[in-house]
Amino acid sequence: MHRLPQKMRPEIRRLWKADEDMLVAYFLKLDSDTRRLRFCASVSDTRVEAYARNLINSDALVFGAFPDGKLRGVAELCILPDSLPRRAEVALLVEPDWQDYGLGDALLHRVVAAAQNRLVHTLEMSWLPENKRMQALAEKNHAIMGFDPDDVEATLDPPSPTPLSIIEEVVADSRSYLRSIYHVKAPADPVRPEVAPH
Ligand SMILES: CC(C)(COP(=O)(O)OP(=O)(O)OC[C@H]1O[C@@H](n2cnc3c(N)ncnc32)[C@H](O)[C@@H]1OP(=O)(O)O)[C@@H](O)C(=O)NCCC(=O)NCCS
Repeated sequence: MHRLPQKMRPEIRRLWKADEDMLVAYFLKLDSDTRRLRFCASVSDTRVEAYARNLINSDALVFGAFPDGKLRGVAELCILPDSLPRRAEVALLVEPDWQDYGLGDALLHRVVAAAQNRLVHTLEMSWLPENKRMQALAEKNHAIMGFDPDDVEATLDPPSPTPLSIIEEVVADSRSYLRSIYHVKAPADPVRPEVAPH
């Protein structure tokens, strides 16, 4: 795979009910290795479909990365009920052809901003020990990691909310909701590299 001259600045937007079929199709198209890394176990089509179908209706906040106008990555933020101080689980997913272009990092930043505005004190993530991309991402974002033979667990502490962080999210969510129901693509990013993977 060729490397792009710079990291991308993709459109990241919240996914809503109108995006459900797209999300299910996205999870179903993943190869078995990517699925195993995402779920830390092998999972069947039936289970993946049920998981993805339920995601938008669950309490989780779901975000999609659209670097070329198509869904190429997904981030999930699930606030743990009754946790005090508030904790939330994060899961990230970028399809193989689009990995290493900064989509994972952009999705993680979006999730941290959403957690910040919901007064989440600690974000929790876990991945398989062989998952070097996830580890690089966590290191870059100064996560505190605990290593186990079966998995790596990490935590991140989002900053406190500010009026600006709240306004930014309200504006982004309103825009993403309209895009979702009217299927409108984001305008082209002027810094997006001309060479892009298929
Ligand atoms: C983990 C994942 C979300 C990262 O997404 P991504 O878009 O590739 O992430 P980024 O491009 O922002 O960052 C990847 C980093 O890993 C680094 N990397 C890639 N291969 C590596 C390797 N073998 N060893 C060490 N670092 C590596 C990249 O150089 C990059 O770091 P940099 O930005 O400092 O250059 C993606 O790989 C993925 O979806 N994997 C399958 C599902 C999964 O593992 N989910 C996590 C568990 S929930």
